[in-house]
Amino acid sequence: MKIDKAVIVAAGRGTRFLPVTRSIPKEMLPLVNKPLIQYAVEEVVASGIERVVIVAAPGKQSLVDYFSPSPELESFLEERGKAELLGEIQRLGRLADISYVIQEERLGLGHAVLTARDAVGDGPFAVLLPDDIIDSRVPVLRQMMDVFGRCQGNILAVRRIGYRETSKYGVIKPREVSPGLYRVEGLVEKPEPGEAPSQLGVVGRYILMPEVFDAISATPPGIGGEIQLTDALGFLLAKQDIYALEFEGVRYDTGTPQGWLEAQIAFAMKNPELSLKLKQYLGRLLQGSHPFRRDAG
Ligand code: UTP
Repeated sequence: MKIDKAVIVAAGRGTRFLPVTRSIPKEMLPLVNKPLIQYAVEEVVASGIERVVIVAAPGKQSLVDYFSPSPELESFLEERGKAELLGEIQRLGRLADISYVIQEERLGLGHAVLTARDAVGDGPFAVLLPDDIIDSRVPVLRQMMDVFGRCQGNILAVRRIGYRETSKYGVIKPREVSPGLYRVEGLVEKPEPGEAPSQLGVVGRYILMPEVFDAISATPPGIGGEIQLTDALGFLLAKQDIYALEFEGVRYDTGTPQGWLEAQIAFAMKNPELSLKLKQYLGRLLQGSHPFRRDAG
């Protein structure tokens, strides 16, 4: 079995990032100079998948526009001799074979995945949440696909979370089968700290078997009145194996201002054009000599 499609779910409201998300989709927020959604598409492509289905919502046209050709901008850059920028813009259009489906009503992550059913067909597929940015040597999806090569089943990406963080994650009941790889024996969506079956929380990367669609269809609304993917996976467990991989990499929750800012600084620090001046700036800021104050050194 080969994974040849990835679904990027990008239809959410982004309430934690209001008011900017009133008119700018969360997935279009920049991380340095690229929108979050581009990192997701690039991770898919770097993992060896060429077909991407983006689940968008009404009013999120900018997601579609971003990957569409822009002849006017291209001829402007060409006339000005800006070959490097031109190449970058043209590369966007060729990055992947991208199609779009619209989730008309925001009924939750599970429902967003179900919306992509026809576009996915009947093979195993990947799901990415673009606000989970993961910085890693090997793309996380690639790490998971390598495990899929051995397990041929559903695979979730998990990371160790703090005791008090469990109420923000889907949490697994794990049985370790090899270092960092677990068989999932149960799943709970957003449990209170004392009730969590472990401190392994699911983050936004999944490899799913097509049977998950029937499981989602049979899943009633759960927490927040939304059709939760975690609940559907709980149903799927009765029929199919689910594995969880503790991946190598650093994850940023860019769906919140705090996580987005941390990612911003971390990514800028890795950028040779920005890091030196940024380090100096942060150094001055941390010492309390604000660079804009008249008495600053
Ligand atoms: P979140 O839980 O982050 O929800 O969704 P959200 O609406 O995007 O943001 P908040 O919580 O209101 O701040 C996780 C992922 O699932 C997608 C989101 O776009 C995000 O990638 N999603 C969520 C949908 O596509 N549709 C939905 O109905 C809900």
